[in-house]
Amino acid sequence: MSEKKMIYLQPTPVRIWHWLNALGIVTLCITGAQIRFPEYVNLFGTYKAAIRLHNTAGIVVSLSFSLWFFYYTLFAGTMAQLYIPKKEDLQSGIIRQAIFYFFNYFRGKPNPHHATPDNKFNPMQKSAYLAIMFVLVPLVSLTGIALMNIAPLRDLLIMMGGLKILVGTHFLLACSLCAFLFTHIYLATLGHTPFAYFVPMITGWEEVEEHGHEHKPVHDLGKHAEHVSS
Ligand code: HEM
Repeated sequence: MSEKKMIYLQPTPVRIWHWLNALGIVTLCITGAQIRFPEYVNLFGTYKAAIRLHNTAGIVVSLSFSLWFFYYTLFAGTMAQLYIPKKEDLQSGIIRQAIFYFFNYFRGKPNPHHATPDNKFNPMQKSAYLAIMFVLVPLVSLTGIALMNIAPLRDLLIMMGGLKILVGTHFLLACSLCAFLFTHIYLATLGHTPFAYFVPMITGWEEVEEHGHEHKPVHDLGKHAEHVSS
């Protein structure tokens, strides 16, 4: 016997952080392209306007990052449980998930991971989100904040190799973040419909089917059934 059930997957602070962060980072990528390549990109009128918008978006991303960090560490207390991969995730989970994304998804097989509020991410997501949220976003924000405060940080910047090193590091980190964004959006469309994974990130809720003690997202069962019947 299976019955449909709604699970609350994405709490409100996480959704607010996520969409503020997404808007901020997309704005940073576009304004950053104009600042770096002003001869090819001119979407915001003047160079100064692009810099002003870039700085504002940077502040939005840094503040929303604090919301994400404090929500998961102080309020929910689930940061380590959700974001740190376990031994079995690293030993076999990542490979299993990669096989799903590269092959089994296209053969209509079900996703090997079933999200629950205590274990939202598959092993690949855990590792990628850990690197993005604990390394890339903090470093790109810190180098950006340093670039907004060149005069007061002059001595420190000289000690660390000068302005060119700082600008180059900020640019390379931003390119990595931009590359993540394309992959992230593509993988987020691999549910049973292109928007299936977007719904919980908008409403908070995901519909699952419960089989005894196990519950599976409706879309995975649908895919499996489709596969079996074909
Ligand atoms: C337009 C841009 C974006 C779209 C459409 C998008 C879409 C989504 C969707 C559908 C989910 C839920 C499914 C999943 O966990 O994969 C998600 C989760 C997530 N996204 Fe994005 N995303 C965007 C930008 C970003 C950016 C820029 C970052 C980080 C720099 C990011 C980091 C994350 C993280 C860490 C989660 C898991 C959040 C949690 O449940 O704690 N996303 N995103």
